[in-house]
Amino acid sequence: MAHVIIALDYPHPAPALELVDRLGEEADFYKVGLELFTSAGASVVEALRGRGKRVFLDLKFHDIPATVAGAVRSASRLGVELLTIHASGGAAMVEAAVGAAEEAALSGEAASPARILAVTLLTSLSRSEVEAVLGRVPVDPAAEVLRLAAGALEAGAHGVVASPLEAGPLRSHLGPEALIVTPGIRLAGGESHDQARVATPEEAARAGADYLVIGRAVTGARHPAEALAGIHRTLEAA
Ligand code: C5P
Repeated sequence: MAHVIIALDYPHPAPALELVDRLGEEADFYKVGLELFTSAGASVVEALRGRGKRVFLDLKFHDIPATVAGAVRSASRLGVELLTIHASGGAAMVEAAVGAAEEAALSGEAASPARILAVTLLTSLSRSEVEAVLGRVPVDPAAEVLRLAAGALEAGAHGVVASPLEAGPLRSHLGPEALIVTPGIRLAGGESHDQARVATPEEAARAGADYLVIGRAVTGARHPAEALAGIHRTLEAA
């Protein structure tokens, strides 16, 4: 069954941890992204680990291999289980990230190696923006996503972050072992906010997603724990 990760998109740790406490046992996995990490730093990851929660650190590392390896080691020491890097950082950068996660586990700094997820093309980019970034026309963004994902997995990445609409083609292209993590989840009849390419939890799970990253559909609900319990029921039924 696909597993839900709750996105903690908050400017400060207090409301984030208040939500974690409200969700209680209903949620065991949280995503910390750029906004919260830049504000609160490692202490928010420590607070989540202290509550027994699993952590997905979504900082989308993209730098020279040695720097990314160092960042992955630091994240591993915090007990982060999933983290993101940009596939466009190249094979050496991906290999350095994966190697650093494995070394951290071997040396006992982490209980197990963090799993490395590649970000391919940001889902916010239009076709013309992708063409401008890559400097060639025409570009088929869907094909670029598959190409970048396959390259990252070949270099050792464990999986990818992708829109739920890309999950099906990625699953066929990458095979059963790849981890597929999909944001852009909306409940049937719910608001889509600023997300353009959305799917319901059942649709994303059926397309082959292993983890669903869900933010506002739960964090913005009047009763977040009930909203999440409803999602868990639909996933069990799917
Ligand atoms: O509130 P919502 O469910 O849209 O939150 C989705 C989360 O997933 C946010 O933290 C957002 O930054 C992240 N994300 C995304 N699309 C991507 C990559 C990450 O929505 N392509």
